[in-house]
Amino acid sequence: MPHMTKEMIRLICFNDLLDSKLDASLSQFKDKYIKVQVTCLEELLDELRLDYPAILLIHSSVLKNSIKQIEEKITSIDPGYLAIIQIGDDVYVEMSHVNFYDIVSLPITRVKLAVSIGHAFSYYAMDQEIVRVHLKLNTQVKELYELNKIGIALSAEQDTDKLLELILQKSREITHADAGSLYLVEKIPAEKSDKSNYFADKQLRFKLMQNDSVTIGVGEFLMPIEKRSIAGYVAITDQVLNLHDVYELPADCDFVHNRVFDDAVGYRAKSMLVIPMKTHKDEIIGVLQLINRKKHWNTIINSPGKIEEEIIPFDVKCVSLASSLASQAAVSIENNRLYAEIKKSFEGFIKAAMHAIEQRDPTTFGHSERVAVLTTALAKVVNKTTSGPLKDVRFTNDQIHELNYAALLHDFGKIGVRENVLVKAKKLYPHELEYINYRFRLFKKYNHLNLSHEKIDLLLNKKREVVLEKIRKLDHQLQDWDNLVKEYWNTVIEANEPDLIMKEGVKKISTIGKLVYHDNGHEEQVLTAHEIERLSIPKGSLSVEERAEIKLHVIHSYNFLNKIPWTSEFKNIPEIVYAHHERLDGTGYPRGLMANEIPIQSKMIAITDTYDALTAWDRPYKKAVPFEKALEIIDWEVNAGHLDAELFRIFVEARLFDLVSKDTEQLE
Ligand SMILES: [Fe+2]
Ligand SMILES: [Fe+2]
Repeated sequence: MPHMTKEMIRLICFNDLLDSKLDASLSQFKDKYIKVQVTCLEELLDELRLDYPAILLIHSSVLKNSIKQIEEKITSIDPGYLAIIQIGDDVYVEMSHVNFYDIVSLPITRVKLAVSIGHAFSYYAMDQEIVRVHLKLNTQVKELYELNKIGIALSAEQDTDKLLELILQKSREITHADAGSLYLVEKIPAEKSDKSNYFADKQLRFKLMQNDSVTIGVGEFLMPIEKRSIAGYVAITDQVLNLHDVYELPADCDFVHNRVFDDAVGYRAKSMLVIPMKTHKDEIIGVLQLINRKKHWNTIINSPGKIEEEIIPFDVKCVSLASSLASQAAVSIENNRLYAEIKKSFEGFIKAAMHAIEQRDPTTFGHSERVAVLTTALAKVVNKTTSGPLKDVRFTNDQIHELNYAALLHDFGKIGVRENVLVKAKKLYPHELEYINYRFRLFKKYNHLNLSHEKIDLLLNKKREVVLEKIRKLDHQLQDWDNLVKEYWNTVIEANEPDLIMKEGVKKISTIGKLVYHDNGHEEQVLTAHEIERLSIPKGSLSVEERAEIKLHVIHSYNFLNKIPWTSEFKNIPEIVYAHHERLDGTGYPRGLMANEIPIQSKMIAITDTYDALTAWDRPYKKAVPFEKALEIIDWEVNAGHLDAELFRIFVEARLFDLVSKDTEQLE
């Protein structure tokens, strides 16, 4: 009796069916079956265990009598493994749970039996083929699913180093490679490109290596792209290399395997699959090298014996899977590079925009950058807060990035404010003060002239002794006038400063404004109504109109930023900037938003912006407020309901102001 194998079929014969006719009918199926003879129902039921496919040969009368018990038995097991050939056509027995069913009519002949049993064998062969195809299909679906999953993971990874690690890891997993390396093609700095030779200005960077069997510590290094090295050969020829044993390369091979690494760590590279990584533009941007395909993924290759026992060549399927993954990986690497380039250009644009503002208003130089440093630092501290009203507020890296750009650009709209208003240090523009000074000189001359007339008049009409006395008095009077004019001028200079002006000061200016002189027959005032109004500005250097013009910078910023087609992670920048001068109680501008309408990011900029504006030491028109005083002023703003108390508490507690202290800046 042949040994039972999985491919064999059991031929179960009930009672007397194993006669010579049957044996003769089965001669063509030699070695494909095992005959099992059963003599009673119990034995039959016992045989219906169906761990192997079976053909049951049974008389129809016996089948009819035992149908219930047989059905009961086979319903509890996989029905796909039983074929029934019923002998005798006097009764037709309908069976469920049987995949193949045939009837051999009486009288039994060798041919009839051979045909029927042949059909049953064909049925099983077909069934096995279906199972095999099904399995293959399942494997392919699983592989596709796996590739798809890897593809999604690759396209989601924005950190290039992590992406490269992932590419190598997944390529090794999918091909069972014990080790692997990844090379990137990169430009040689300052090397000229050559349209006829893509690699003329390129070199290979050995980027990373992974090895499951030995611990490695190889850092990145550069190498020329030449055919002598395996990676260089693959890059230049754009060919996949599938090498069964890199130690047994043919003598006429263009490339050699560098054993330095193997010798250094006691490793033995044997089978190797090396694949070029190409972008959709067909540019080779890297090389994927998979080493030592293992029979079993988890085996550690730690002895020469293991190499022999475990390492096998990469098969066609590995080449196909790894190639597919390599092209997906190339697209992801290319995407990351493009993204990095866009980011770089964009950051360049932001720097240029900041530079443009600072060119117009050099006194605010560094302000945007300091506000960005403070605001992003504040966001990071908020992220660590575990109690209080902000304990659940968390900013993602993208949101912190977005906040950084918003802070850098928050005052960009100042580009739309007139430059003289922007840099206005005093209440009057220098040319206005110059006019006043001219009028003061005229006024003084006018006084002198008047007194000179009086003197001449006296000399012509009065006695000498009277005249001398009168002239002395007039000279004193003139001296007093000159002193008063000087004092008035000093009052104007003083009032022109952006500091707080007191009631007496305003009164004095109004008095000066009433002084008149005559010029070419016209009566002129020393100060015009406009000048009196400017010099009476209670605090700061700006008039109401100029203040309104400066305030417009928020709307300019918003309109400008709103025109930029931001990517989704930066889409809130215009809104954050738009609300950076809003105050919680609705007293801010330009929209007078209330606390619940102001984005938290704008509330953060409101604090850092105020702090920097107060402490800035580089504004000639304004003295820097010491940081303790600045914190006191902001605290007052918080208590007045303008600024957010919790954000300010965090700002102070974390001493974020140290980040932009004058000492820090000078050290840098
Ligand atoms: Fe602003
Ligand atoms: Fe600002």
